[in-house]
Amino acid sequence: MSTFSSAFSLLLLAASSVPGSQGMNTTSVPSAETLNGCPRRCGNLTFDYPFGVGSEYCFRNPDFNLTCDNAAQPPRLFFQDGLIEVVDNIDVIAYGRTSNYLLMDIHIDFSQAISMTPGSNVYNMSWKAPGRSFSLEYAMLNITGCDFDIHRLDQNRNSTLRLCNVTCPDEAITEEVARQNCNGTGCCTIELDERLTAFQLQFVPHSKGELVTHSNRSSLRDMINITTVYAYLLWSIVDQPTCASTRGNMTNYACASSNSKCFDNYFTPNLGYLCGCDSGYWGNPYLLNDCQRDRGYIPAQQKANCSRSCGNISVPFPFGLEDGCFARKLFKLNCTNATSSSLQFDDEKQVTHINIEEGLVSIRYTPRYEQQEFKVFVSEQPELYIGSGESSSVQWAVANLTCQEAKQNSSGYACVSINSTCLGVNSIDGYIGYRCKCMPGFEGNPYVQNGCKDIDECKIPGICKGVCNNTIGKYYCTACPDKTQYDTIEMRCTSTKKQTLLLGIIIGLSCGFGILLVSLITVFFIRRWKNNIQKQLRRKHFRKNKGLLLEQLISADENASDKTQIFSLDELEKATNNFDPTRILGRGGHGMVYKGILSDQRVVAIKRSKDIEADEISQFINEVAILSQINHRNIVKLFGCCLETEVPLLVYDFIPNGSLYGILHSGSSNDFSLSWDDCLRIAVEAAGALCYLHSAASVSVFHRDVKSSNILLDANYTAKVSDFGASRLVPIDQTHVVTNVQGTFGYLDPEYYHTGQLNEKSDVYSFGVVLVELLLRRKPVFTCVSGSKQNLSNYFLWEMKVRPMKEIIAAQVREEATEEEINSVASIAEMCLRLRSEDRPTMRQVEITLQFLRTKRPNSCQTAPEFHEVMQPLLSARSEASREPLVTNLGVSSSTLESRSSQNCYSLEQEFNSSIGLPR
Ligand SMILES: *[C@@H]1O[C@H](CO)[C@@H](O)[C@H](O)[C@H]1NC(C)=O
Ligand SMILES: *[C@@H]1O[C@H](CO)[C@@H](O)[C@H](O)[C@H]1NC(C)=O
Ligand SMILES: *[C@@H]1O[C@H](CO)[C@@H](O)[C@H](O)[C@H]1NC(C)=O
Ligand SMILES: *[C@@H]1O[C@H](CO)[C@@H](O)[C@H](O)[C@H]1NC(C)=O
Ligand SMILES: *[C@@H]1O[C@H](CO)[C@@H](O)[C@H](O)[C@H]1NC(C)=O
Ligand SMILES: *[C@@H]1O[C@H](CO)[C@@H](O)[C@H](O)[C@H]1NC(C)=O
Ligand SMILES: *[C@@H]1O[C@H](CO)[C@@H](O)[C@H](O)[C@H]1NC(C)=O
Repeated sequence: MSTFSSAFSLLLLAASSVPGSQGMNTTSVPSAETLNGCPRRCGNLTFDYPFGVGSEYCFRNPDFNLTCDNAAQPPRLFFQDGLIEVVDNIDVIAYGRTSNYLLMDIHIDFSQAISMTPGSNVYNMSWKAPGRSFSLEYAMLNITGCDFDIHRLDQNRNSTLRLCNVTCPDEAITEEVARQNCNGTGCCTIELDERLTAFQLQFVPHSKGELVTHSNRSSLRDMINITTVYAYLLWSIVDQPTCASTRGNMTNYACASSNSKCFDNYFTPNLGYLCGCDSGYWGNPYLLNDCQRDRGYIPAQQKANCSRSCGNISVPFPFGLEDGCFARKLFKLNCTNATSSSLQFDDEKQVTHINIEEGLVSIRYTPRYEQQEFKVFVSEQPELYIGSGESSSVQWAVANLTCQEAKQNSSGYACVSINSTCLGVNSIDGYIGYRCKCMPGFEGNPYVQNGCKDIDECKIPGICKGVCNNTIGKYYCTACPDKTQYDTIEMRCTSTKKQTLLLGIIIGLSCGFGILLVSLITVFFIRRWKNNIQKQLRRKHFRKNKGLLLEQLISADENASDKTQIFSLDELEKATNNFDPTRILGRGGHGMVYKGILSDQRVVAIKRSKDIEADEISQFINEVAILSQINHRNIVKLFGCCLETEVPLLVYDFIPNGSLYGILHSGSSNDFSLSWDDCLRIAVEAAGALCYLHSAASVSVFHRDVKSSNILLDANYTAKVSDFGASRLVPIDQTHVVTNVQGTFGYLDPEYYHTGQLNEKSDVYSFGVVLVELLLRRKPVFTCVSGSKQNLSNYFLWEMKVRPMKEIIAAQVREEATEEEINSVASIAEMCLRLRSEDRPTMRQVEITLQFLRTKRPNSCQTAPEFHEVMQPLLSARSEASREPLVTNLGVSSSTLESRSSQNCYSLEQEFNSSIGLPR
């Protein structure tokens, strides 16, 4: 595809370079020149072509015509309709290094106020996307007012849907108070999450007319205020529905730059395409020849007086604190507090030291997103910092070019000092870029004029056995002048005298021996000291980690820690043959997993983190705390941990058959394939495990990273849910927690992604993706026939609407499953994948329905009772009767179970009863 588009761009280039050809459209191929004079900024917001303001050649088509209201303070940016406001920078530059799809969205606001007038019996609000190129991706609105119902008109179904009933029982309630909860008292929160091009809301007052003036009546009663909490608009080029169709008709093809390519729209297939630069190129793909090799480096300081320190950290060029003081955006640092020397790189990274000569910066890293996949979304700069967790010293390069490429463009070449030289920077992933260094014999800053200064080597004592002469870049030694001799003690030439010479030799010899002895002793002591330090360090980590762990465990349950075995580091080193790389079973988002054999011949999997961060320690402890208290047939068993390393090592039961992902997507290389019966059983088992986690008595556990690669299969292909590194314990009365977004692309709940609000339904969404994987036997992000990447859940939801289910699912499933099963599993999956978390079923409802399907299978071996030998309610205050793990068998204990928690996932009868209530 890329060769194709570059060929096309060459064609464009040829067309536009025909001088003075009559009727030539200057606007047909936008370039940096044609956009000269077009504003790219409104207040502090930036945007770029195809968006623009002003004359018609500044934007691609009227959809992208923005208006900047400069009269406002600060200036505000609007779409053409004048109602929808842009509230964040519009990024058009993205590159698809790892994917073939793109998602471009714009953070918007469309707040509105409607005054209530006496006598009206309905108020309307309608919203329309500001052009065909846009659709509403997601919006959360708070609506304040008093005593009316909110309805949404559904154009397709020609019906209205009641969303909310806003009442004001307290006459004097203020808008501020109402907004805090926004629970229906004076305020209501609604969400819109289909890809809408328009919607209409209706507000129907409970009592028409009499707007009584009350003495302490709140102003809430006069107005309906609709405010956006979050809203995002998707955009794309809609001249052609897909990249494939652009190939048939290149008129007005938007990816005008060479080295750019077309991307299908991630969320709305068939509704337009987007452009991106090829990997290794940066720029605006919509402009002629704008995708270029890295040219982001400006080698001269633009501003006169730049501050060059933040507290006691010095900030030399090419780094800088103010605009005009750094050489590229990536080298801009923010001194947030000079007295405490707080130098931020961004929200997640703090710089503690900059080393120009070695090309290193020391960074303290507190990651917000764990998974690399998120980088796909916004990346307008090449990656010039290379460092992996373990060391906080990070290498950097000034531009993603080879030295040869860099020298060709002298105006952008970074090594401006005389006596400096260019040097390539490599990482394990390959070549990163170049940096500069002073030539040997010089020191200083090669990035500034005359920054490399001569080193006066003669200041180094004893460098010459004679007279030292310094020259620029070098030095040379000459013999001592006549009648003098080099004195090794004083390290200079002294006048010769026989006695002193003899004395000198004696002293010299004895000194030599002395030094030798002292160094031997020192080496000996350092060794011992190092050994001690290492032991002490182990002990220290042990104490710290154990302390943390115990604190967690004790706060949760007094006697849970008994079950968790503590291993010594020596034992685990022996078990894994010193963490032999050949024993690596897998690499997760959180670390490395090794296979080990303990001295008692137990085969175990040992998880070891690659990054050492305070946050991760608490994550590991978190995982230990959760797992040590769980004893469930379908949750991977934790044997114990080792606390002697900085980040504890976790020791699990070894699960021999790998992950569900591995088996489903291994392709033809593996002749084993799961039968539909197995799939259904695994789905039930995994759902049961998740349900158990969600509905425990006093605390819920949200897994947060449900995916087929975290569902492991043991020797009997029984499912074991694993990887609790990201999980969260949540008190049961709390319905959600606000967290940093974590998860895996393809499985991530879109609502959680946008709001950061985690609830149990995020796991339900991810489980829905696993169900679709089982039905379709496709990866969560797969390559479709046209070669573009597709998101499985979107593909499924889309195909489901347009084709019968039987045509979508994998051939094997079609053969083995009954029609009813296919339709039921598909409809459960569809419900799990609903965008509004409230519309999704609970994990329990999912489990019940799947279990019900299984029991109806004609000759399925019934493992159900065994399956339900759930041991103990998670983290419950195990009171009265049961001190030991409670082993229940369905036959005997339905009454015990009933009396426990009706929320738990135990009783089969109960399940069948409630399955009737589940909407199909
Ligand atoms: C120039 O553009 C106009 C409309 O934008 C179009 O009608 C015309 O055919 C174009 N001319 C050429 C030579 O492409
Ligand atoms: C762009 O939008 C503004 C405001 O709606 C309008 O006044 C102007 O005429 C538009 N420009 C073009 C070239 O359509
Ligand atoms: C622009 O400024 C406003 C307030 O002055 C701030 O809230 C907003 O985050 C800024 N936006 C950007 C993109 O810097
Ligand atoms: C929607 O309903 C209105 C009246 O209830 C009717 O006039 C109109 O034809 C209907 N439209 C469709 C598309 O069914
Ligand atoms: C809305 O709530 C009020 C007060 O609770 C109630 O009187 C009214 O009937 C409700 N409206 C609807 C349509 O349910
Ligand atoms: C809703 O919030 C209001 C305060 O805004 C509070 O007084 C009321 O109790 C809340 N109602 C419910 C049902 O939580
Ligand atoms: C909107 O409502 C939520 C509660 O649902 C509240 O937390 C938030 O502060 C409100 N925001 C605004 C801008 O009213």
